Amino acid sequence: MTFIRPRNALDSLLAGIAGASRLEPARRDRAVAQAIAAHVARPELLEGRDCPCCPDQYVRHLLHSDPEGGYAVVALVWRPGQMSPVHAHRTWCAFGVHQGVLTETYYAPGEPPVPCETRLLAPGATGNGPADPRLIHRLANLSCRTAISIHCYGVAFDRFGAEVNEVFAA
Ligand SMILES: [Fe+2]
Repeated sequence: MTFIRPRNALDSLLAGIAGASRLEPARRDRAVAQAIAAHVARPELLEGRDCPCCPDQYVRHLLHSDPEGGYAVVALVWRPGQMSPVHAHRTWCAFGVHQGVLTETYYAPGEPPVPCETRLLAPGATGNGPADPRLIHRLANLSCRTAISIHCYGVAFDRFGAEVNEVFAA
């Protein structure tokens, strides 16, 4: 008798991302967000993974690198009060909230960019977008407990520093 072990939550999420990431570029970010949404709120998602927070700033933990270098998946851990810079993306991206609540603020382009809309993101909420210097946002943990989000960017992990965020002074 063959016993097929069911995929765990993280494997399921990564398999969904892998499939979505092969779609044509224009559909990729939304499809990856849908793949993230299907599993991101499962409490056991990061079971067995060590994802500590950092007292100084939010921190990224690599969960998966596409062997072909097309994308990488990270967990971001946000202590209360920690936030990203105001930024746009140089690559497509998608993310979802696993634990806690994040606040996402959108900005209208300008010097400096001007905040124009805010939304609260609870577990299961997602966001996505193409590479576009006019799509400016900031994620922040304005709550009282640690938050964790899962992000996928369309470049290899070792290129994250230069090729993911276009940061604005705000
Ligand atoms: Fe972002």
